[in-house]
Formats: sequence, structure tokens, C-alpha cells
Amino acid sequence: MQPYLVDQRRSGVLHRWVPLVLLVFGAKLSLEMARGEIVICNYEKFHLFDSMYRPRTDNFCVFNDVYLGSDVKGADFLASSLDYRRVAFANSKFPQVPPSLFKNFDDIRELYVRRCSLESLKITRLLEKVYAGGNRIASVQLDGNASNSLRELYLDGNRLQGLANLTNLPALEVLVLENNPLLGNVDFGQFGRMERLWKLDLERIGMSRISNGLKRPLAELRRLDLSNNALTYVHVRMFRTFPKLEHLWLHGNRLYYMEADQVRTVMPSIRSIVIDDNRWGCGHLAALGKQLRDRGIIIRHGDCRAERAVHRVCCSDETDVVDMRYLIEMGIRHETHFQQEVRELRAENDMLRRDLERLGSRLGELMANLSRPAEPVVVQSGTEETVDGQESGEHPEGNDATASFEEYDEEAGNEK
Ligand SMILES: *[C@@H]1O[C@H](CO)[C@@H](O)[C@H](O)[C@H]1NC(C)=O
Ligand SMILES: *[C@@H]1O[C@H](CO)[C@@H](O)[C@H](O)[C@H]1NC(C)=O
Ligand SMILES: *[C@@H]1O[C@H](CO)[C@@H](O)[C@H](O)[C@H]1NC(C)=O
Repeated sequence: MQPYLVDQRRSGVLHRWVPLVLLVFGAKLSLEMARGEIVICNYEKFHLFDSMYRPRTDNFCVFNDVYLGSDVKGADFLASSLDYRRVAFANSKFPQVPPSLFKNFDDIRELYVRRCSLESLKITRLLEKVYAGGNRIASVQLDGNASNSLRELYLDGNRLQGLANLTNLPALEVLVLENNPLLGNVDFGQFGRMERLWKLDLERIGMSRISNGLKRPLAELRRLDLSNNALTYVHVRMFRTFPKLEHLWLHGNRLYYMEADQVRTVMPSIRSIVIDDNRWGCGHLAALGKQLRDRGIIIRHGDCRAERAVHRVCCSDETDVVDMRYLIEMGIRHETHFQQEVRELRAENDMLRRDLERLGSRLGELMANLSRPAEPVVVQSGTEETVDGQESGEHPEGNDATASFEEYDEEAGNEK
């Protein structure tokens, strides 16, 4: 390992730090750092995985072996190169990302802090991708409670208990919340502002029922993972707000009943619904499997090794237990069915009315434009979200040289 390689040719920024750098050069930072310690990152090729779990390699400034106690203000973070935009911590440990990192790297767009024992996470305004899986994060804070930049957020394997602070993310495309067992029942309505979301991973979050309070459809959502939860009953209409949904993961739940006769109407784009590893009774599973497969929908990802299987999905013949439960459930459903439909119609009506209002105002604009064609009409787009946070402190002097940054290249392999 070459800990703090300072490349003099590209580090005009740093020359004045060099004496200080040399002081810590070679020092083992695996000891808890003393106040005022300076840590330099190393510009290198860094390996990570993209939103489709494909390996990705990119230039990151990497901090190695940074160990901080509860007083994370102790260290000062600097770069050995000019690329301040992607920062990673490897083999490091601290309860929160030290504030001085954001101060010194004030143009940071990607932050990689997997397995750093983080307990809380702050997301600054320019961050576009945050990899924060495998920590102990219980609280997340957004600068100004919102971000118009964040496109990918990975919070898998943490201790989140709620998403209240994570709702105002209009640019978010990928949200991975897998393995946050304390999260429990999450209402899809909480993702309502994420209009560009195409991947939502809610595997293993302790969900026992689906609630969908979305007022408008999430028109881009293509992948929804609800696997390894405790769902018992699914009606495809619960997914009516995801018109482009292609893949739905439901395996590893306790499903014994799924109502799917409207599947093609509700989910016209659906290609696979993974239903393995549930509590299916064989009778219902045979009908359900046929229904889905007749419509060209793939239903499993593994082979059942148990004795009883239908469509190679495990099931049980102890239908007296299972079917009793679902008959009772269905009885309850039928009573609430009517109310449910009224609620849905009402929501759809609201949606249509809002669309109509929008069209009306555009028409008004058009008329106004037509009646005075010579004058340029300035129309303010009132829909843009604004953030009311403040700029993060003063710029450290070292960052003056950031003007010569190469353009940040959009991630190439972002398959949609
Ligand atoms: C939500 O954000 C507020 C500050 O904006 C913070 O005090 C609180 O701890 C956060 N809560 C969670 C659960 O993340
Ligand atoms: C941010 O959101 C949290 C949770 O909804 C709320 O408690 C807090 O007051 C909000 N802070 C601001 C600055 O709006
Ligand atoms: C009206 O004109 C303005 C300025 O030329 C333009 O930005 C706006 O889109 C027009 N509105 C419509 C509805 O065409």
C-alpha cells in the first residue's frame, strides 16, 4: 500500500502543504487521529458497483485507513490531486463524515463511504451519488431538507427507522434501502416527489403490508424489489401507479394469495414477477402461475427442491390452513373493496383535475402569446423546486485551482 502519494506535477494546490504532509507521511493513521491531523487522499482507480450491480472503475480520491472517534472534527481532509469531485473512504471508521471533508471538497459529486461504521449521514447539495451501505446509519440529513442533485442513493444494510427526511429528492433515479429491517411498512406515497425514480429496492425492510398513497404515478419506475419481507397478500392494483414497471420481486415473503387477473391492465410493461419462496397453497399457485405465464410473465428465479411444486415454485397442500386464512382475508377484502375503489376513483379524479388545470393554464398562456406575437413573453416556470439551504462556509484557499477541472463525465454505464 502506498498511503499518501503526493503527485507534485498536478498538486500546485498543495505545495504549501507539503511540509505538513511530510510530517504525517508514512505515519500510521490506524491510530485514532489527534486534533489537527491532516489526511491526504490518493487519486486512483477505484472499483465499485453501479446501479445494476455491474463493476465500475473510476477515478476517485481515496482516503485509506481513516479512524476517527466521536470527535470527527479532529482531522483536516485534503486532496493530492485536482479531482475533488469523487471521494471514497476505504478501510475507514467514523460515526459521521467529518464536516471538514465537505468544507475542503466543496465541489464533491460522489461520496463512497461503505462499511465505515457511520451512524448518521449528511448529504450536501451538490452530491449526485452517495454510496453509504453497510453502516449503522439511523439518521440522514439533507442540506436544507432537499436535494435537486442527488440521483443515486445507496443506504442498504443500515438502521433507518423512517424516511421522513428523504422525501424531497426530485432528481433521484435509484434508491436502494435494502436490508434496513427497522424501516417496517413504508408507504409508496413517500416517494411521490421522486418522479425520475426507475429503481426502488425495498428488500428486507420488515414490510408486512403494502400501502400506496401515491397521488400521481411514478411514471419511470421499472424495477421494484419487495422481496424478503413479510407480505401475505398482494393485489396487482396496489401497483397501478407504476405504469412502466417491468420487474417486480416478491420472493421470500409469506404470500398465500395474489390477485392478478388485471395484471396486464394495471402493469402493461411487466416482464417478470418473482414469486418463489412464499406460503402458496398449490391450488391457488396453479391458477396464479397460469394466469401470469399465459400473459408472458416470468414468475420465478430458482427451482423448488421441495416435494410439492407448481410451475417449479414450492407450495403446500395443507390448503385447509392456508385457504382458510385467505378466505377470511378475502371476506374482509370484499367488504372494503367498494370503499377502496371509491378512494382510488377519487384519487384518479384529483389527478385528472390537476392535469386539466395545467392544460388550462397552458392554453391561457398560448392565447396570450398569440394575441401579442411581437412581444416576447417571459413565462416563469413555477414548478422548479428550490432549496433553501445555505452555502457551506467559506472556500478553503487550496480550492482556487479547481477551475481547471475536467468536465465531470456522466456515468456511462447507467443502463435504464
Ligand atoms: C431529520 O433531519 C433533522 C434535521 O434536518 C435531524 O435533526 C433529524 O435527526 C433527522 N431525522 C432522521 C430520522 O434522519
Ligand atoms: C426537515 O425534515 C424533518 C423531518 O420531516 C423535520 O423534522 C425538520 O424540521 C425539517 N427541517 C427543515 C429545516 O425544514
Ligand atoms: C409563450 O411564449 C413564451 C416566450 O416566447 C414561451 O417561453 C412559452 O413557452 C410560450 N407558451 C406557450 C404555451 O407556447
